[in-house]
Amino acid sequence: MALKNPFLLKGYLDKHYFCNREKETTGLVNAITNSRNVTLISLRRMGKTGLIYHTFAQLKKNYHCVYVDILPTSTLAEFIETFGKAVLNQLENPYGKSVKQLLGIFKKFTPSLVIDPMTGQPSFEIQIKTERESESTLEDIFNYLKKRKEKVVIAIDEFQQIAEYPEKKTEALLRSYIQNLTHIDFIFSGSQKHLLTQMFSQASRPFYQSTEFLFMDRIDSGTYSKFILHHFSANQKKIKEKEIATIFEWTRLHTFYVQLICHKLFVQPEKELTHEVLVRTLQDILTENEPYYIGYKNLLTNQQWGLLKAIAKEADVPKINQKDFLNKYKLSASSVQRSIKALEERELIVQETNGYRVYDVFLGLWISLRF
Ligand SMILES: Nc1ncnc2c1ncn2[C@@H]1O[C@H](COP(=O)(O)OP(=O)(O)OP(=O)(O)O)[C@@H](O)[C@H]1O
Ligand SMILES: [Mg+2]
Repeated sequence: MALKNPFLLKGYLDKHYFCNREKETTGLVNAITNSRNVTLISLRRMGKTGLIYHTFAQLKKNYHCVYVDILPTSTLAEFIETFGKAVLNQLENPYGKSVKQLLGIFKKFTPSLVIDPMTGQPSFEIQIKTERESESTLEDIFNYLKKRKEKVVIAIDEFQQIAEYPEKKTEALLRSYIQNLTHIDFIFSGSQKHLLTQMFSQASRPFYQSTEFLFMDRIDSGTYSKFILHHFSANQKKIKEKEIATIFEWTRLHTFYVQLICHKLFVQPEKELTHEVLVRTLQDILTENEPYYIGYKNLLTNQQWGLLKAIAKEADVPKINQKDFLNKYKLSASSVQRSIKALEERELIVQETNGYRVYDVFLGLWISLRF
């Protein structure tokens, strides 16, 4: 089936709409099929979740695949509910068993079976009411996983979240269960590099050296360029390589932003996507997002905003404390230290090999054009 718009902005469909990532996919498949757990790390919106689904598509002949996103969780109980629900709903087919069989899977707790009022689809729900209940539920879920005979791979996305839970024992608890599941492999993924690398590489931490790291960078520009050309020309739209190079320059080859501008270009009425069409499309994106951008600005102190503006105007700042930079933007070294921390915590800026830059490339462009 031909898609209306081949440049996806969320989720994963199939390999036709997924560019490259061959090396990373092979690495993940190789690790899983050799029973090595992996920690997958990249900047936000670089394509981790897409890569996990793409890898699942290769593995699904021989593996049962479970994907769980724990970003919305903030306590151990919420983790157990989210994790348990994902495991049950993705490994069990509510249609294939009687309700009694389904509800009897666990010893210490009973999941409920709910029907989606829109689709009529049944699915499992898990609700934890007390702390004692939470630990026995977790034990039950892992016992259930241990008893399964087929191969299973479980991806826990945004795994750094567990470091934020008030229950400090979470890491040790999960590690002890996971290391007993010798026939189940795990992918832990996330974008908070320092939190994740600390979790897996500090000798004092429970997950120390329990996985191998996969750091995912940008898609190769040559391959991405061919992918973009292919999808435009398959839909009778013309674009020159020069224009694609401009897209890469504006977006710094950051996957989501490349996808977004291509997605919006795709719906422009012109058959030929010239530089003028490109500029107009970028302006549309910036105007559309302006309310969010202004929202960020209003959340920041004057000093934080001043620093964000300076970084946006410079594009990259290799040495944030250098006199020239501070003088040019009338910043004081001491306030910069404080502001850097606040901006990093809010994921408004990120440090890469070229120095600090605005994390959201369109926000960076908007600031540099507007102020
Ligand atoms: N290789 C790819 N080819 C084409 N599109 C991709 C590719 N990888 C990711 N995308 C698209 O880019 C966007 C961002 O990808 P994804 O959500 O996988 O990133 P992420 O790193 O998981 O982001 P986050 O940190 O926000 O969770 C999505 O719209 C996805 O469809
Ligand atoms: Mg993701």
